[in-house]
Amino acid sequence: MKIAFAAPTLPKTGAVAAGVLDGGKLSPTAAQLDRAMSGALTRALKSGRFKGQKGQIQEVLAPAGIGNSRVILFGLGKPKELKDLDFEAIGSSVIDRLSKSGEREVAIAIDDIAGIAVAAPQGAALCAFGARLQDYRFDRYKTKQKPEEKPSLERITVLVDDLAPARRAFAALEPVADGVFLTRDLVSEPANIIYPKSLAAEAKKLTKLGVSVQILGAAEMRKLGMGALLGVAQGSAHEAQLLVMRWNGIGKTGPGKRTIKDKSARPVAFVGKGVTFDTGGISIKPAANMEDMKWDMGGAGVVIGLMRALAGRKAKADVVGICGLVENMPSGTAQRPGDIVTSMSGQTIEVINTDAEGRLVLADALWYVQEKFNPHTIVDLATLTGAVIIALGHEYAGLFSNDDKLSEKLTAAGTAVGEGVWRLPMGEAYDKAINSDAADMKNVGNRAGGSITAAQFLLRFIKKGTPWAHLDIAGMAWSSKDKPTVPKGGTGFGVRLLDRLVADHFEG
Ligand code: BES
Ligand code: MN
Ligand code: ZN
Repeated sequence: MKIAFAAPTLPKTGAVAAGVLDGGKLSPTAAQLDRAMSGALTRALKSGRFKGQKGQIQEVLAPAGIGNSRVILFGLGKPKELKDLDFEAIGSSVIDRLSKSGEREVAIAIDDIAGIAVAAPQGAALCAFGARLQDYRFDRYKTKQKPEEKPSLERITVLVDDLAPARRAFAALEPVADGVFLTRDLVSEPANIIYPKSLAAEAKKLTKLGVSVQILGAAEMRKLGMGALLGVAQGSAHEAQLLVMRWNGIGKTGPGKRTIKDKSARPVAFVGKGVTFDTGGISIKPAANMEDMKWDMGGAGVVIGLMRALAGRKAKADVVGICGLVENMPSGTAQRPGDIVTSMSGQTIEVINTDAEGRLVLADALWYVQEKFNPHTIVDLATLTGAVIIALGHEYAGLFSNDDKLSEKLTAAGTAVGEGVWRLPMGEAYDKAINSDAADMKNVGNRAGGSITAAQFLLRFIKKGTPWAHLDIAGMAWSSKDKPTVPKGGTGFGVRLLDRLVADHFEG
């Protein structure tokens, strides 16, 4: 689908969409249409319940007096209450309505209306962004789709007075959508297609955007002493990989060139759990819904998509993205419950449950990133525990942190982009639950506070004084319901959140 911006001249054909304020007050474009339609829109507003309420839509088909095939009125609500996300919702809801309607083109008018806090060019860019995010589909494996099952919409034009700033704002948003889509694709691909080496190969493609990508195999990880990560991988025919991506956007003069003067400058690090399939290992999972575990690489998927977003918009920040990529399988070579592994940090871990594998992978990935890159801040993402879904459902990711300021920044970034995170407590009492009689720690506590004890485990691999946050995205990486801007399937949750965190706090 093509998205363009144009000056507000109404097209003579195709669909056209315009706003209505709370109480039924027509926007300038809607009023213009209404005049051409001899007051039909005013009459439509009188006869129905739609009065311009925010989030609602009214469609008028085959309007008389104009050449357009239909008019869509979208509710703007009260001007003062309109926020950035509302403009995304306008774009996405119009596209949702028209996508399979048979309509090929739509023009959406974003008028400059007094009292709206979001400037019209910004609103127009966000509307286009919402449309773009809504338009995503993963139908690569659908070979028998009939034409009428495919979207008809080919072109969106956002009409706005001030074109240049709208285009500029959208140019910064489009790479973020590309990042979200990359994550959605990777998460949606099945585990026979996406396994550690193929996932690393997908990330390697980011080299084109100026990301430097390094991939460590099992032998190199063995040398580094990554016994926790390798223990998880040892039951699989697929070799484990450690994916190391770097975007050095500070003082950058060209792709991949780092001209930063201050050598002591520290990057921000994002670390992802990349279990390309989680059977549970010898502590095997029940058969029902096990297919869902193809998205257990969701954390890694977000880190890869985020790197694409940051590189795509040439973020002025130094960022490291690290992903531990493994497949958790039961086999004759798989690790056993009771095995004791030595992590890269030197700490030993008694593996009580081979299904609590994500934390083992992250333990070594977290240690590696600190040893190699000395980051000023670390955020990890993982589909780590089923327990976080019990706690928060599919509305918020669990946030666990040793740093109040970082937690506040993440919470604010999440609110701004509509990707909510909710902080859960940590503390010594929870930490005790993972003490082991046989080793320095065990990889599970009891069932109580399962997401928190998992976070406590990770914290044991964070060096003192480093601000760190862990996002448990088990409930968010995949959606079984369509939501505005997020079609069902892989969501890409986390890409926008962390892109915003970087934009607001780590860019010069
Ligand atoms: N990948 C799962 C967590 C998960 C479960 C994500 C369901 C999404 C939906 C993780 O590796 C896991 O198996 N966790 C166990 C931990 C337990 C053994 C302590 C869990 O949550 O049951
Ligand atoms: Mn597991
Ligand atoms: Zn897992």
